[in-house]
Amino acid sequence: QKNYFCFRRKFASKKVAKIVPKNTPKKQLATKKEAEDESSFSRLQEDRRKQAERSVLIACPPNITEMKFLKHLSTHGSIENCFFYESFGIYAVVEFSQTHSIDSMLGATIFPSVQNETAVPFKTRLLSLKASDSVLPKTRPSVPCQKLNPIGTKELILKLSQQDTVDKQLYYLLEQHQLTEENIRLRFLVCSLLKDIAAPYFPECVIRLFGSSVNSFGKLGCDLDLFLDLDSVRGRNTKQTRNQLSLEFQMKSTSSERAATQSILSVIAECVDHFGPGCVGVQKILNARCPLVRFSHQPSGFQCDLTTNNRVALKSSEMLHLYGRMDRRVRAMVLSLRCWAQVHGLTNNFPGAWITNFSLTTMIIFFLQRRSPPLIPPLDQLRELAGPRDECIIEGNDCTFVSDISRVKNLDNTETLDHLLQEFFVFYANFPFNQMSINIRKGKEDYKPDSSPLYIQNPFELSQNVSKNVNPTQLERLVTLCQESAWLLNEGWAKQRASTEPSPWGMGALLLPSLSQSIRNKSKKGRVLQPASERFKNLLAFLKTNKAGGSGAAGNA
Ligand code: CTP
Ligand code: MG
Repeated sequence: QKNYFCFRRKFASKKVAKIVPKNTPKKQLATKKEAEDESSFSRLQEDRRKQAERSVLIACPPNITEMKFLKHLSTHGSIENCFFYESFGIYAVVEFSQTHSIDSMLGATIFPSVQNETAVPFKTRLLSLKASDSVLPKTRPSVPCQKLNPIGTKELILKLSQQDTVDKQLYYLLEQHQLTEENIRLRFLVCSLLKDIAAPYFPECVIRLFGSSVNSFGKLGCDLDLFLDLDSVRGRNTKQTRNQLSLEFQMKSTSSERAATQSILSVIAECVDHFGPGCVGVQKILNARCPLVRFSHQPSGFQCDLTTNNRVALKSSEMLHLYGRMDRRVRAMVLSLRCWAQVHGLTNNFPGAWITNFSLTTMIIFFLQRRSPPLIPPLDQLRELAGPRDECIIEGNDCTFVSDISRVKNLDNTETLDHLLQEFFVFYANFPFNQMSINIRKGKEDYKPDSSPLYIQNPFELSQNVSKNVNPTQLERLVTLCQESAWLLNEGWAKQRASTEPSPWGMGALLLPSLSQSIRNKSKKGRVLQPASERFKNLLAFLKTNKAGGSGAAGNA
């Protein structure tokens, strides 16, 4: 970082800089309304999008030096930000201060000379830096690389065991797993590169990021949820008045909105497949409830899911982002429980009867709303706090809620993360899933409208169950793991022991392979159960008595 800023002073081309004295309070720089807008979700997304439009992604030779690299690029203009990462080679994300620097750079970029093959001459902002042998050092210097993936589970458990409270463990896990600033920049850049592929057909389109990349609960390595927003293309027509002479576009018509979506996605998929450098494994999943195109973006390692018209999902992401900002415990709880669910195979990257991270996050939000006093308010209260500018109806669904977080008052809950984590497991170990549904709009359970094993009402599309895919077996696994985790935290197995050797405890112990799962697996294979330790015996006894109490999940199963 230090080197880079030295570089900027030395090599950056001349530009008129806005100089703001360091100590000027924010209030003096902007009106209150402007300051609010600055932190609003949509403003943050817009700023990120513009930042990405001024950026390029460059594959670098392995022996590149940061100084040479930046010196070469700054001939096209002042560089605002630059970082490197490693993913099958070294890549650099370079953000220029001005968009015209990109034009200058692309103007000076040449096509590769490929022998025996013909390349499609489609120009994008994914480039390769080539250097002749004499220019770069022979030995490989190390450019500072940002990490794109979280530390492994074994190392995480070890590090967690070295913390002295569960609260510190959860914050440590949050620090290790949350998306970094650089990772977020790269996500928006990939999104912007994809927009360039769709733009020849739909010049005014926007590709928007939603889901865990932007909802503040993203974990390093999570997928990239994108949607092609054509509203700005269609929006032009609404400005015209009908009582004058006017011109209309002649268009192909399709039998339904769904058919139009399918044909647009099909064409974009072909373009991504044939023209998108670095995009591999393109799959058209057009018959799904929500048609999508799935592919891998190799230079970033991101798995991408592209849909269209997913404005309600974007609103869900905004809502989660708001909840994540209300109290720092919310993100620590969500990231830790996402990690716990992943380690135990409750969630899975492949579609199926598993609980999704979105369902799990909604369950955590609901639990935090049910505390006494609540830690966060129900969505209906956030709707009441909304101003006129927050009003939002999407396809007949009321998606209105406050965007200005300063209007949400603090709810006086002072529970520790240690206690909240324990209570979360107890809450869902005993939740009457067979009768009741989870409703974060009201912040209260409701009777289930159908017999789905797990019913979580979609907060905006009220007749939809977010967890419709979950089968009785997966729900039962969740409940059993909650029982086991509550037991581990309660019975002292997860408490730090007075020992010179740090052994897994607290959150670390919760990430070890599940005892109840291994008992189940052994009994399924027909082996005689011989608990290896006192720990097995105690857990078995606990699970037996707890089953009798009945969470309702088993009843459903
Ligand atoms: N979504 C939804 N209803 C579902 C599943 C998903 O509305 N049943 C929306 C949510 O807004 C969710 C987004 O689609 O955030 C993306 O879904 P998914 O990728 O499954 O969840 P993420 O929150 O992105 O979590 P992950 O890190 O697992 O990708
Ligand atoms: Mg996702």
